[in-house]
Amino acid sequence: MKKSPLVRTAVLVSGGGTNLQAIIAAKLFGEIQNCDLVAVISSNHGAYALDRARAAGIDASVVDVTTFPTKRTFNTALMQKLKDLDVDLVVLAGFMQVLQRPICKEWENRIINVHPALIPSFSGEGCYGLKVHQMALDYGVKVTGATVHFVTEEVDAGPIILQKAIDILPNDTAKSLQRRVMEQAEWDILPKAIDLFCRGKLRVEGRRVIIEE
Ligand code: GAR
Repeated sequence: MKKSPLVRTAVLVSGGGTNLQAIIAAKLFGEIQNCDLVAVISSNHGAYALDRARAAGIDASVVDVTTFPTKRTFNTALMQKLKDLDVDLVVLAGFMQVLQRPICKEWENRIINVHPALIPSFSGEGCYGLKVHQMALDYGVKVTGATVHFVTEEVDAGPIILQKAIDILPNDTAKSLQRRVMEQAEWDILPKAIDLFCRGKLRVEGRRVIIEE
C-alpha cells in the first residue's frame, strides 16, 4: 500500500516548551504518526523550548517579535519563514503572539493551538498562561481543563478538536492548577490532536470538528 507523505510540521513557542517536549516524546513513542517535525520557531531568544528542540535534533530558530516595528511586520516575517519551510501544519505550543489574517487564511484549518482552559471559558485576547488559571480560581468554577482547537483570526474562537476536564481542588493555587492541567490534559490532548491531523482524521464542518476513526 502506498504510504501517505509525512506532514511537514512547525511548532511555534515562546516559553518553557513543556508542550513541545510532550510532542517530541509522543513522536518518539510512535503516538504521533505520519508527522515530520521540521522546525521549532520561537518569538523570543530566551525561550527554553529552543534548547529542548536542539536537544531533540530539531531545527530551532527565532523570529524575534521585539525587532519588528509592528505586529503586522512580525506576522509577515513569520509567514515568510513558514512558507520557506513549506509547512503543512503549524502547532502553537505556548506561543504568546496573535496570528493575523494572512497566516490564518494561508493555513486555514491547518493551525492547531492548545489553550489552558475549557473554551469558551477564560479565553480570548489577553487570556494566556498563569492568568487563565487565576481567572478560573477567582470565578470559582469547580472544573477547568484544556482545549486544542484550530486557529482563526478571532483569538481562541476556532473549531474545537479535543478538550479534557480537570477538577479544581480546594487548596489549588494558579501554579498548582497550571501544573495539573498541563500534566493531565495539555500533554495528552495536544499530541493526540496532532496525530489525528497527520493521519487525516479531522474534518471541519462549520464550527464542528468531526473525528473520523
Ligand atoms: C501552556 O499552559 C499553554 O496552554 C499556554 O501557555 C503554556 C505554555 O507552556 N498557552 C496559552 O495560554 C495560549 N493562550 P509550555 O511553554 O511549557 O508548553
